[in-house]
Amino acid sequence: MKTRVRSGILRPLLPVVAVWFPITGSTAAAELDDRMADAWTVAAQRSAGTVEWMEDSYGSPGMFSRYPTVANTSTGKWTTSNSSGDWHAGFWPGTLWMLAQKTGEDAWRQRATAWSQPLAATTNTNHDIGFIVLGSMGKGWYFHDDCNDPDGSYREFARNAITVAAGKLNSRFNKPNESGVPVPAGCIRSWDGFQSPYPVCIDNLMNLELLMMAYEMNGRLPEHRPWFDHALAHARTSIARHLRADGGSYHVVRHFDTGPQIGGIERKNTLQGYGDETTWARGQAWAIYGLSAVYRHARRDPGTDASDILAAAEATADYFIARLPHYHSADSYNHRTGDHVPPKDFDAALGEPVGPWNDANDDYNSSSGTGLGDRKPATHVFTPRDSSAAAIAAAGLIELAGFMADPADRARYLGAAEDILTCLISYDGPDGGSDPDYLCAPGDTANPGILKEGNARWTEANRSLIYGDYYFLEAMARLEALKARELLDTTLGFGRTGGNVCLEFERHDPAPALAFRVQKSTDLIHWTTVAAKTGGGPWSGDVEETPAAEGKKRVRVEEPAPAARGFLRVVTRALDGSAP
Ligand code: GLY
Repeated sequence: MKTRVRSGILRPLLPVVAVWFPITGSTAAAELDDRMADAWTVAAQRSAGTVEWMEDSYGSPGMFSRYPTVANTSTGKWTTSNSSGDWHAGFWPGTLWMLAQKTGEDAWRQRATAWSQPLAATTNTNHDIGFIVLGSMGKGWYFHDDCNDPDGSYREFARNAITVAAGKLNSRFNKPNESGVPVPAGCIRSWDGFQSPYPVCIDNLMNLELLMMAYEMNGRLPEHRPWFDHALAHARTSIARHLRADGGSYHVVRHFDTGPQIGGIERKNTLQGYGDETTWARGQAWAIYGLSAVYRHARRDPGTDASDILAAAEATADYFIARLPHYHSADSYNHRTGDHVPPKDFDAALGEPVGPWNDANDDYNSSSGTGLGDRKPATHVFTPRDSSAAAIAAAGLIELAGFMADPADRARYLGAAEDILTCLISYDGPDGGSDPDYLCAPGDTANPGILKEGNARWTEANRSLIYGDYYFLEAMARLEALKARELLDTTLGFGRTGGNVCLEFERHDPAPALAFRVQKSTDLIHWTTVAAKTGGGPWSGDVEETPAAEGKKRVRVEEPAPAARGFLRVVTRALDGSAP
């Protein structure tokens, strides 16, 4: 039922025109929209199953301090962690925030809030604090606005947690050695007491967003400037030290933490991939996503030229796309038409390339820092896939596409992301079954998650991984938000009906993972929301919707517009700060 908003004196900011452009999407795009709608349904079903299982296993409220991590391959249920410092911890609350945004249902918001709460005081003491806090508090921060957090208390809570975490992460830049001497590596140390000396994994690129977000959300204070500068410096060091000339990547770079070469490279090796000189697929995906996120923040910093970051993001993306099984015909063991999910390591089947960090005899001595690891032979067999790497790359490619000045580049990255998502949702390869290979069927009992065929590390069996699920939903949400904004841009129009001004635009039906707010103002400073909608939730306010072509709805908001000056606008909010 319509409820009419009568307050306000309005006149449109833009000329009074209402021009409608027909939107003709390709059949493939429409098919992906349908597939994503189905995948969201599967995601909600599977996540509801996880909530129920957590409640049965741990009881409420105890279950809110336990976090699903990876599947237990024997039971088909989640392995859980009860540590707020576990690197996996933020992905489950983040999954719940995305379901809350997409469905508009309050039950998901309540669960997201409850599971995020303990992570505000995460006990993590290494680089993973970024994963933990961005997934929980970061998503919670973006979820809230003046409609659902009128007094700003949730955002204040989240901002505080993010700020404290950023301070901790920043303290790891050039972290002092045991004698208290700063190690001038030019980057954030990953772990303590593991992979020493001074290890920096490519995954760290993902956590720089925490520093840059905290700097921005606190109003770019001078005392926080080192957070931004250190994030940018780390990205540049990582580009120089983790990336190879062909755009591939090393997993871990270790640095001398004492002696004449302090801060210099001690060696490069893998922890989760096949060999020291191979490219671990998820590490490559972290690079695409992480560098794109850094560029997002760096490009809006006055005076910063981050074109080198963008170029590096493109190089990592180009490497990843070219080696997907669908394209990489040189690797006959893995080449499969229609398969856009990477092998867990890009080089295993054809053998570890020769490089400066391997040789033929296993002579590395970690005490003296001399010698090299063995060069791994070609496996000459099919390499199991990693669905989590595909999901992370898809989310990163969608953001990267938004930065491209050339429409052909934009289409290439967006197309690659769409192919990956299509494959994750519906690829059914020669595995003997008739279910999709990567998306869990609603009744799947072998895996507890949304996706299957994720690989945590080279030596482990494939399974559901909580981070694969998180980035899969994020990729779908990003793509939907991008398309919804394009539709809004191309269909937004103003008009008059008698003494009223009306604003019209089209939205997708089913709803995208995007919040719409229609707002009015008389001074362009103070805005009042007259109509609001979050994902699949209902409109609040006075809105008329009529069916439009191709699964879309036309939205019309009408307000009285007497002679005095007034303005109407539509703002949209996605669940992260990604471009455009
Ligand atoms: N440490 C993050 C990962 O396994 O990719």
